[in-house]
Amino acid sequence: MEALSNSNSVKELISTTKGMKTTDGDGVSMVRLIGSAELNMLDPFLLLDAFSSDEPNDYIGGFPSHPHRGFETVTYLLDGKMRHKDNAGNEGLIEAGGVQWMTAGKGIVHSEMPEQENGLLSGFQLWVNLPAENKMVEPQYQEFSAAEVPVEHWENGTEIRVITGKTQQGTKGPVNNTYVSPLFMDVALKAGKAFQQEIDVEDNTLIYVIDGEVSIGNEKQTLSAKNIGILEQGDEIKVTSKTDQARFLVISAKPLNEPVARGGPFVMNTEDQVRQAFSDYRSNRF
Ligand code: CO
Repeated sequence: MEALSNSNSVKELISTTKGMKTTDGDGVSMVRLIGSAELNMLDPFLLLDAFSSDEPNDYIGGFPSHPHRGFETVTYLLDGKMRHKDNAGNEGLIEAGGVQWMTAGKGIVHSEMPEQENGLLSGFQLWVNLPAENKMVEPQYQEFSAAEVPVEHWENGTEIRVITGKTQQGTKGPVNNTYVSPLFMDVALKAGKAFQQEIDVEDNTLIYVIDGEVSIGNEKQTLSAKNIGILEQGDEIKVTSKTDQARFLVISAKPLNEPVARGGPFVMNTEDQVRQAFSDYRSNRF
């Protein structure tokens, strides 16, 4: 039964993918969910990698010194420790539940290395594109520990960790975004419970299931663990747990709708700008 007076349109699933296994950095094993041949981008998200292993050989090489220009890199850790260092003088240790939001802007050189020799390392890296007019801004670095990420508790047992953006009840994430303002939440649900969030109708939205199984929208379609779901346009996100526990990421933002020219660690608007980035990096202008 559908309420005729309901002006909200619940977002349904458009597509799902498990991503593609790959390695990056110095041999780090990961699954590329966005930024692969299968799903090149979900504007303004250029890349989403998931890594999770308790086998040191899968991660010990880390991501030694490398450059970025033209976008933001976001690292969110679920387990383990990684140390970040960059040539703008920022250094920080990200631990489980912590997040690092780096605006590469006109250029930064950084390293991201595991601060452990054994045990589980798991987490995500997301690349958020910058608008054309902000691609050459000064680099900026924001880092928050698990304790600094607010958790909203609902009576039905739902827990929402808000990294950036705001929940309907007003819990606001610590990351301050000037250019693109995504919603980035880590949600845990009990059996049969639903998470609902109003959203800008223009937003591109993805759900990544960390644990369990969920249904999307009016419960016609399900999404299982380690899968990413892309949602259609609509002004409400609704995710229902189909298992005893379910945990998922909600990542959403308004698309930039600008030309994208990619060249490895540089993402600009034209091929000429990408060539310029390589040339600037080679001549130590970062
Ligand atoms: Co990087």
